[in-house]
This record gives sequence, structure tokens and C-alpha cells, in this order.
Amino acid sequence: MAKKIASARISAESSQLLQELNNSLPFDKVLYREDIEGSRAHAYMLKEQGIISEEDYEKIEKGLYEILKDIEEGRLSLDGDDEDIHMAIEGELTRRIGDAGKRLHTARSRNDQVALDFRLYVQNNTKAIAELLLENIQTLVKVAEENAETMLPGMTHLQHAQPINFGYHMMAYASMFKRDYERFMGSYERNNYSPIGCAALAGTPHPINRQTTSDKLGFNAPTLNCLDTVSDRDFALEILFNIATMMMHMSRLSEELILWSAAEFRWITLSDRHATGSSIMPQKKNPDIPELLRGKTGRVNGNLVALLTVMKGLPLAYNKDMQEDKEGVFDSVKTALLSLQVLNEMIADMTVNKEAMERACMVGHLSATDLADYLVKEQGLPFRDAYHITGNVVNLAEEKGVDISELSLAELQSVDERIGEGVIALLDIRASMNARQSEGGTATNRTLEQVESLKAWLNSL
Ligand code: ARG
Repeated sequence: MAKKIASARISAESSQLLQELNNSLPFDKVLYREDIEGSRAHAYMLKEQGIISEEDYEKIEKGLYEILKDIEEGRLSLDGDDEDIHMAIEGELTRRIGDAGKRLHTARSRNDQVALDFRLYVQNNTKAIAELLLENIQTLVKVAEENAETMLPGMTHLQHAQPINFGYHMMAYASMFKRDYERFMGSYERNNYSPIGCAALAGTPHPINRQTTSDKLGFNAPTLNCLDTVSDRDFALEILFNIATMMMHMSRLSEELILWSAAEFRWITLSDRHATGSSIMPQKKNPDIPELLRGKTGRVNGNLVALLTVMKGLPLAYNKDMQEDKEGVFDSVKTALLSLQVLNEMIADMTVNKEAMERACMVGHLSATDLADYLVKEQGLPFRDAYHITGNVVNLAEEKGVDISELSLAELQSVDERIGEGVIALLDIRASMNARQSEGGTATNRTLEQVESLKAWLNSL
């Protein structure tokens, strides 16, 4: 076995077990594009600063370009026993171009190199996730617009509370995903600073120019302090937190889709493309897809807690513990990208069973609050008295086995004669929904206003 290129003081061959524990190549090979992009920028800067010759730079540039092509086209595998992706690519480059390859690591350490590669990966995927969030928001807004008159019981404690419309309910999720989008983009901006050139921890005596590499790689500027930079994994924690929060939103939506698909509701029907059968019960159509989206929150939460725990006791600067930062991020990113695509399809394809939703509005005396509000507004009663009178009206409706919106004026007045004729119209479920005219409320026109506002926001991006 050849001597490792990064083991000047290690004479014996590494034990097989050490390699198994130590090597990150089996998982960090997914960073090959970022590693090559970073090395090309670094080599360019070294040449611009006169630290390496034009000729060496040309060889490095061409060599890295060819390595990239060979990996992408399947001619070069990354399954060797190199310690990590950085050593694998540097080793391959040196095998191909000789001494020029050995000059690439001038004024650089794997500590700033890995900080760069990983940050590029996180930044690229932050954008990819944000794009998919926008697609989901668009879909939710469309379903909302189509259903601003589709009434359903709004709930608290999973008990019927007040009538709302399905569009309004979808706009609640669109609002969550908008916040998620802004959270991802906020992290993108906060972390868009270049780590390369920090070297091991203290900077370098070589006359480098970090602005050059920063510009070439699309960062806002070089980071401020090298000791912080090589020790910092906040960018990775941020994407993990952003994904965990987004998946929590997705999980709540999935939970509702599962509930609404149940026989007791039948408010929605998932398309057959997003439902699965049972191996024994031929009649079954199971909502496995939203169940999995709900279940995936477990792993993304775990990935966040795992990295927070890895980082919490580390002295500055780099420690090998930090190699544990990657697999969880890769897993969360993969989970987020797939889940967002699936959710988008599922929402676009589901059927909204308007009649079932509206039928459910006749259960639970959804307009009871309107009666209490009437007694306060029109009859000047203190709210607590109005609340008790309304309670008695609800009891009467229960006795008669009807919804309060179905009681006659005479029946209403048998409870309290201050209940006037105008109440009948107020107790109508749709009227009750449309009475909620306050800003951000559920009335159809207010819901459509929210739809317009999110559309304008989408167009402004
Ligand atoms: N594979 C390492 C990681 O992922 C790269 C950095 C190694 N740096 C070092 N000083 N050993 O963290």
C-alpha cells in the first residue's frame, strides 16, 4: 500500500479498523463537485498572486476539469481507501499531473477546505429546498383560491369550533411554508461568506487574496476570523434546524390529510398515485405517503440534535469530531428534497370533497359564538351573560337533535326573549364564516385577499 500523502510523521500502515473509523470518503464523496470547484478557485488565486506559476495553474485547472468529467461520466470511482474526498482528489490529480498537483495545497489546509466544500454544499441545497418550497406555496395558493367558499368546521382541541373555509386552512400552511422559505434564504445570506484561505486555524504567511476566491465562488466576502471559520458549523446547524421546522409543518399537514382521508371524515381523497393497498385487506387504501412525511420528522430532528451535541464541547479550532457533521446533513437534505416534491404532487392531485366538509359544518353548533356576539353587540349584555344564554340555546338544540342554526325564532326566544329576528340570518353557517371580516380572518373575501397577497409576494421574488 502506498504511503498516505498526508502522513509525514506516520510510518506504520494504518490498521484496518482505524481506517474504518477514520475515513470519511465513503460518505463525503458526494462533495466531489464542491471540492473541485473550491480547488479550481484556490488554484486560480494562487496563480493570480504569483504563488504558483501560470504553467502549474494550467495543469491543475485542466487536471481538475478532467477529474470532474471522469467522475460524472462514471470513468473514475471514488471507492478507494483514501481518507476523505479532499485526499482522494488531490491524490488523483498528482497521479495525473505530477508535481504541479502537489502545489495545489499551498496556503490551504483541509480545515478550511472542508469548511468551504461543506458550506458550498449547504448553500446550494438551501437554494434547491427554497425553490421547492415556492412550488409548494404556489400549489397551496391555487387550492386555496379554488376553495375559498368550501366550508368546513375549524377546530380547536380537535372539536368543532367555528366555520372556516378550506382555502383559509390551506393558506395557513402556505403561510408556514413562506416563513420556511424566508428562514432558508435568511440562512443563505447569513452564511454566504468564504472560508477558504483560513488555512489550518491562523491564516497563512503566503500572500494570498481571499477576496479573489470569495468572488470566484459567489460569496459576499471572506469570513472575518479564521479561528472561528474553521471551527464553525453554524451553517450546517441552520440548514438542519430549517429542515426540521419545515418538516414539522409538513408533518402537521400530513396528519390532517391522514385524518381527513379516514371514513369518519372523507373530506379529501388522495389520488391513487399517492395511496397504497394492504397485503391482506383487499378493500384498503392507505395514506402511506403522508404517514411517511410525518414519520420523517423523526430522523431530521435526530440529525439536528446529533450535530448540536457533537459541537457543544469542542475547543477551538478543528477537531475530528467535526467529521460527524456530514451524514446527518446529507440525510436531512435528501429527505427534505424528496418530501417537498412528493407533498407538492400529493396536494395538487388530491380531491376535495366539498359536500362532506359542508355537511360536517352542521355538527357542533359552529355559529354559537355569533349568538353570544349578537347579544353583546345588539342587546348590550355583558359577554359572560350572553355566553350563558347561548349555552342554554345550545342545550335546547341538543335536546331537539338539531344544530342551533336550525332552531326557529320562537324556539330561540323561549330561552331568552331578547333574541330578536335578526339572529336567524346570523346563525347561518356561511353567514357566520363570512362575518369574520377582521384582517387575516376566514371570510371568503378575506381569504381571497390572503391569496392575492401571497401571489403578489411570489411574483415579487
Ligand atoms: N474529513 C475531514 C472532515 O470531514 C476533513 C478535515 C480533516 N482535517 C484534519 N485536520 N484532519 O472533517
